[in-house]
Amino acid sequence: MTPSDDAGKRAAGYAAVDRYVRDGTCIGLGTGTTAFYAIERVGQRIAAGEQIVAVATSIGTERLCKERGVPIVGLLEREIEVAIDGADEIAPDWALIKGGGGALFREKAVALCARQFVVVATPAKLVPVLGAFPLPVEIVPYAMPYVLREMRRAYPDIDIIRRGTDTPYITDNGNYILDCHFGAIDQPALLDTSLKTIHGVVASGIFVGLVHDVVLG
Ligand code: 5RP
Repeated sequence: MTPSDDAGKRAAGYAAVDRYVRDGTCIGLGTGTTAFYAIERVGQRIAAGEQIVAVATSIGTERLCKERGVPIVGLLEREIEVAIDGADEIAPDWALIKGGGGALFREKAVALCARQFVVVATPAKLVPVLGAFPLPVEIVPYAMPYVLREMRRAYPDIDIIRRGTDTPYITDNGNYILDCHFGAIDQPALLDTSLKTIHGVVASGIFVGLVHDVVLG
């Protein structure tokens, strides 16, 4: 990451918090190097006396929140006014690929629960069509052989990388992740729906129809 990437991420994270987070509310906080700056900014606002609580999208984010004095609550313990999170790819219609940090399941849960979902990113994440970034798909470990067989049958040209091949990468939910190259993803909603019909697929990193705003830095 270059210093200007980092400055862009900070600008996006801080701007999203300043624009969308109100004192006295519950918010969702995302995972990744851009969402980190939103967490940092919320920590500053709490240190200045504001009453903000957060739902974390990963164990890592929960740890960062605790380090910065951001109180954590459970999913829907309070209404989530806004969730702020990063993305790996952003299409022109704001369909996303997320989950590069492995937190896609909880990130989608928080986005679905939030009244508004705001994405923070640098312009490098804007793409004409999704698919250059491998799509993370979370899988129940027991079902892995079946899921691999069904995915290869349904998508003969797919290129599947098992994340953490030597030592399996384990998500916060105790599952595995497959990073999948499908080529250009023209119909992300359809792909997401069809992947979820495979028994053992927990979630894909495709987010469609959820984004309220994209804040670029
Ligand atoms: C984690 C995510 C991240 O939001 C996504 O990978 C973007 O991360 P970064 O801001 O570090 O580029 O989905 O699961």
